Amino acid sequence: MPHAGTLQIGQLSKQYVVNDETLPVLDHITLTVNPGEFVSIVGSSGCGKSTLLRLIVGLEADYQGELLLDGQRIVGTSLDRGIVFQEHRLFPWLNVEQNIALGLLNARFSEAEKAQSVREHIALVGLEGFETAYPHQLSGGMSQRVAIARALVSRPEVLLLDEPFGALDALTRAHLQQELHRIWQAEGITMILVTHDVEEAVYLGDQVVVMAPRPGRVRRIVPVDLAHPRDRASLAFARIKEDVLAEFAGEAAAATAARHAFRHDDGPGSGWQLPSGLRFAL
Ligand SMILES: Nc1ncnc2c1ncn2[C@@H]1O[C@H](COP(=O)(O)OP(=O)(O)OP(=O)(O)O)[C@@H](O)[C@H]1O
Ligand SMILES: [Mg+2]
Repeated sequence: MPHAGTLQIGQLSKQYVVNDETLPVLDHITLTVNPGEFVSIVGSSGCGKSTLLRLIVGLEADYQGELLLDGQRIVGTSLDRGIVFQEHRLFPWLNVEQNIALGLLNARFSEAEKAQSVREHIALVGLEGFETAYPHQLSGGMSQRVAIARALVSRPEVLLLDEPFGALDALTRAHLQQELHRIWQAEGITMILVTHDVEEAVYLGDQVVVMAPRPGRVRRIVPVDLAHPRDRASLAFARIKEDVLAEFAGEAAAATAARHAFRHDDGPGSGWQLPSGLRFAL
């Protein structure tokens, strides 16, 4: 029996049907996430990162392959999996406390236990004093802290984060990355973070999964064998970041090669051509 928080993804595939056409979105994804591990996922826009998280959280039911949490097939949403989206999705008419308590709506806790858990999680994300503030009175970073607390308040085994800091300025973002790292260590739970930011992925992840698009698949898994707290300015950090970025470069080169092959196959005179005067300028 695997330990609590073990996620096993085996040969996972997913298609969407749009206008009677089948769009393959995920293609035979295989990934094991161990309990308490932090996995970062990067990949170009549209490669299926959010779809993968939606499958893990149980918002999508239709897939092929294996998707197991602690050896059990994932069916529907559950309190053992929390999710934080890019936009905080707080209810504007509820205050901080009430928004966080929403995460306990279906939890089998007594009212006193719920109040206690909400208090603890407000402290965990550093928002003491803002219990009765409404979302319009919070900054973007504070709102994301509330969203993280709401996802954690039911004490899930796995926390999924879909570009949670994407809309924040660089300084707030760096600060919240440190905070997320602290929370991860304090809670000891499995976390999976989708991000466009390679530095963020390397700063936080035990491993960085680089996905390739059309259809979404795992291009490479880069281990990050660096002790915490990580020094973004260190040579070792820069090397791993370069390693991840090189996978993207490889992806871009493959896409360009595919486009050239396509143009070549089309034969002379067809498709897009450069004006002849530009040929040497490029
Ligand atoms: N409900 C849906 N119906 C049809 N197609 C969908 C649906 N959701 C996503 N897609 C398609 O699946 C592909 C993957 O989408 P997804 O949102 O998972 O990508 P992503 O990697 O999260 O992209 P981004 O980095 O831009 O957020 C895209 O081509 C998208 O158009
Ligand atoms: Mg997405």
